Amino acid sequence: MKYFQAKCNYIELAQIYNTPLYLYDLDSIQKQYTSIKNSFYGFKSLICYALKANSNLSIINTLARLGSGADCVSLNEIKRALLAGIPRYKIIFSGVGKEDYEIKEALELGILFLNVESEMELLRIEEIAKELIQSHSKHTISQARISIRVNPDVDAKTHPYISTGLHENKFGLDMQSAKRLYLYAHKSPYLSPIGIHYHIGSQILDFAPLLESTHKVLDLTKSLLSANIDLKFFDIGGGFGITYNNEVAFDIAHYINQIIRHIDALNLTAICEPGRSIMGNNGAILTRVIGKKETHNKRFVIIDCAMNDLLRPSLYHAYHHISYLGDSQVGETQICDIVGAICESGDYIAKDRELPLCKAGDLLLIESCGAYGYSMASNYNSRLKPAEVAISSGKHFLIKQRESFEESVKNELQYLHQET
Ligand SMILES: Cc1ncc(COP(=O)(O)O)c(C=O)c1O
Repeated sequence: MKYFQAKCNYIELAQIYNTPLYLYDLDSIQKQYTSIKNSFYGFKSLICYALKANSNLSIINTLARLGSGADCVSLNEIKRALLAGIPRYKIIFSGVGKEDYEIKEALELGILFLNVESEMELLRIEEIAKELIQSHSKHTISQARISIRVNPDVDAKTHPYISTGLHENKFGLDMQSAKRLYLYAHKSPYLSPIGIHYHIGSQILDFAPLLESTHKVLDLTKSLLSANIDLKFFDIGGGFGITYNNEVAFDIAHYINQIIRHIDALNLTAICEPGRSIMGNNGAILTRVIGKKETHNKRFVIIDCAMNDLLRPSLYHAYHHISYLGDSQVGETQICDIVGAICESGDYIAKDRELPLCKAGDLLLIESCGAYGYSMASNYNSRLKPAEVAISSGKHFLIKQRESFEESVKNELQYLHQET
């Protein structure tokens, strides 16, 4: 296998759990988390794992046990983080469209802070905090702890769908507006601005845009501190790119080494929100060949994994390495498109890929699916979501059951044949 290092018997796994099957290497996930945490060694830091990359409770729990916090983008992600054992004071809440009920519950739960994405949101948070404070409910809070997401207007040079740090993107506030809102929040009796945040995109491979953003946000931070705004946290976001094909992975330790002294000099705790860099290469999908099809100019290998199981190739033209696990004779290869069974021409996992001659029943391993794999899975074409299995110290165990047909229809059945 190129990236997936877990020791396991794929034939046995396919027999026990069936395919398509998500597999995770828990030992490597732990190692990767620890290596990111060690990049901050000697400095105050909190790693808030970005749940959007993969929100399986057992994965979150594995990271919680190492001391991880959580970066959440919905109330349900916050609930998952809490269920999996992440303490509330290590949870932050980001996202451009927080709803009032989500803000209220996040405040009642007493999470570390909310990352504010717009002026309107800041005013909503202030209003909700005021109501909570004045209601003297059992969830009394003294103030809403916030951080503002600054949009530094820097091009992350990544796929446009996952680039977030330009003014044309919907995320964060420009420097000037951010400063104005910090000054406003500082005066509000209901708001406590304790952090500053930026995140310019995902799968970033180039150092320069991240460094430039950090320095821009550091400059703003200095001016806020000198205005007596008592910031405690400097949240550098996530976005560190990994190797899917031939890219050189982002060197996280080197980057942190370049910036951490500047953060420490302001007596701030660094927060980092990695998702893909912890999970990406530590997950894979085991899939089976259903059959082959040839047209006059194309060969297709049809597999039991489709865009509902792994959306990245269809959505971003993403590359995933595919390892052949069948018994075809070494040497004989074919160029083919590896596709799923969904009724869309955009449903493919790989295009023009060289593979050994496959036959029905052969197993393939689609690599680098640990991040934005299962978390983006859907039921399109009424397909059922796959099972998830973790592997640790050579042992495998189920962490999420394969969805059953009964589960997939249970919220509809009760309404069937209802007269209106
Ligand atoms: C605010 C924020 N933090 C963290 C992440 C995680 O990014 P990544 O998985 O690239 O590390 C994202 C994802 O885009 C994000 O939007």
